[in-house]
Amino acid sequence: MTSASVPASGTTSPDLPAHRVLSGQKALVTGANSGIGMSVALALGAAGADVVVNYVVGDDAANAVVDEIRRSGVRAIAVKADVSSETDVERMFATMLSEFGTIDILVNNAGLQRDAAFHDMTLTEWNTVMNVNLTGQFLCARAAIREFLRRGVVPQVSCAAGKIICMSSVHQQIPWGGHANYASSKGGIKLLMESLAQEVAPQRIRVNGVAPGAIRTPINTSAWDTKEAYARLMTLVPYGRIGEPQDVARAVVWLASDHSDYVVGTTLYVDGGMTLYPGFATGG
Ligand code: BGC
Repeated sequence: MTSASVPASGTTSPDLPAHRVLSGQKALVTGANSGIGMSVALALGAAGADVVVNYVVGDDAANAVVDEIRRSGVRAIAVKADVSSETDVERMFATMLSEFGTIDILVNNAGLQRDAAFHDMTLTEWNTVMNVNLTGQFLCARAAIREFLRRGVVPQVSCAAGKIICMSSVHQQIPWGGHANYASSKGGIKLLMESLAQEVAPQRIRVNGVAPGAIRTPINTSAWDTKEAYARLMTLVPYGRIGEPQDVARAVVWLASDHSDYVVGTTLYVDGGMTLYPGFATGG
């Protein structure tokens, strides 16, 4: 290899302090007033980022998250917006840009379930899930990408021109009867994330996914809130415990930081081994 083809030093990740790895960065987390989104927003703030806490219902919960983030010594604001509405998303980004100046990190987290047997599933149940989980990620990613492209890399802030983390699920891979709308939306997120990652990597924008398994949040209370349900759930989790929101938040902080600067278009499973076909440990 000639020296001309060797990348200049200084274009790879610098040594970073373990804490405050996101100092000076501006982050937006959708669906940040509860569950995984709340934990992610707190962790980004603790890592030094200023954070926009997006939510659609529950002003008090969103304001409480903002107050807690501010205790980390960073800025935080709550912005109410329905991620499935183009008008709301555009307004939310306009607010963020006028308050914080720019965006460095988007965590596309907002998501919901509307479970039903397939033959009973209404078009409203189908559309609600697709609109929030998949179209919402498209609308927010598009707005973030436009700002990343406008601004480009600011080396003092990050090696990348921007980072997007798409919250997916083990159900981007594991089929889920009774939840066809949800699994379809998560399968869609996988290819949205990968296609976008491929398209914008040349502009130094990194897009990755996180696929949580069973995490202790309000979305799946019935899967863990009784002894029997928890025991049933554990037959699906080789690691033998439910995930906590912080397990996911730590993965997001890493993917948002320059510590993962060469990680592009990857899904990081945070699932205690749920995707390892645990039934085959004793069968097959
Ligand atoms: C779902 C949860 C479920 C988990 C594992 C998640 O994506 O939102 O309800 O417990 O996957 O099946």
